[in-house]
Amino acid sequence: MMIDLKGKVALVTGAASAEGLGFAAALKMAGQGARLFLTDLNAEGVEARAADLRAAGHEAQAMGQDVTDEAAWAATIDAVVSAFGRIDILVNNAGIAVLKMMSEMTKADWDRQLRVNLDSVYLGCKAGLDQMRKQGGGGSIVNLSSIAGLVGVPGTAAYAASKGGVRLMTKAIALEAAREGIRVNSVHPGSIWTDMQKVAIADNKEQFDIIENAIPMGHLGQPEDIGAMVAFLASDDAKYITGAEFTVDGGMTAQ
Ligand SMILES: NC(=O)c1ccc[n+]([C@@H]2O[C@H](COP(=O)([O-])OP(=O)(O)OC[C@H]3O[C@@H](n4cnc5c(N)ncnc54)[C@H](O)[C@@H]3O)[C@@H](O)[C@H]2O)c1
Repeated sequence: MMIDLKGKVALVTGAASAEGLGFAAALKMAGQGARLFLTDLNAEGVEARAADLRAAGHEAQAMGQDVTDEAAWAATIDAVVSAFGRIDILVNNAGIAVLKMMSEMTKADWDRQLRVNLDSVYLGCKAGLDQMRKQGGGGSIVNLSSIAGLVGVPGTAAYAASKGGVRLMTKAIALEAAREGIRVNSVHPGSIWTDMQKVAIADNKEQFDIIENAIPMGHLGQPEDIGAMVAFLASDDAKYITGAEFTVDGGMTAQ
């Protein structure tokens, strides 16, 4: 059965990369009829992605946004509402991976990781929730966590703290908003082949082999695998699902 997002307005952060998870989610939702508003620190990139969606016959707009900046969140919500009148779906996807062993990790690394991956999701949920409440309730917020927010992985102390934080913040907010029909869930990708992975394991074939061999299905996932999960959670087919966590990891955390 096709997921139906006809007429719904979706805001997706961190959507500038054509091969990233944000754009994959946007593309999937646009294909189901949603109107898309894309943001990213990379304003030029995200404008290009919105143009890609429009060229494919979808409704899409974009603007530059730093998700760590509270004032920028207010400006973004205003821009989405003036473009499309409302926000039904918010996908907090923007993120970075500061992967360092403890001996190498500085306090500045730690702070940057938490600011970009955790503070940003707090700010996004707060701004998104306020807007959804203003509209009279209803809506779906999907937060991108990671399997590194579920199990320990060496070299991810700060990243894991950010993603573990996203996981439980998601549940707490879901409980606050449940009676208003605003659903909040987290998605936990395993290793998906995007720029983030390419940077993390660039020029390190050995590390790539270790990662690939650890995946029960034997290969990395594709951005569309995450896009499909996000689109489902965004839709009314998921109307009884809130405060829940969904791994999309080729069996990685089943071990
Ligand atoms: N790729 C994976 O294997 C994987 C696994 C688990 C979780 N994730 C999570 O999925 C999300 C998307 O990852 P991806 O692999 O598509 O990465 P990506 O690097 O391709 O995309 C992330 C985007 O976020 C943007 N961004 C970074 N800082 C920002 C800021 N301060 N404000 C606004 N935008 C900012 C970047 O410009 C980039 O376009 C991230 O939250 C990531 O942690 C990815």
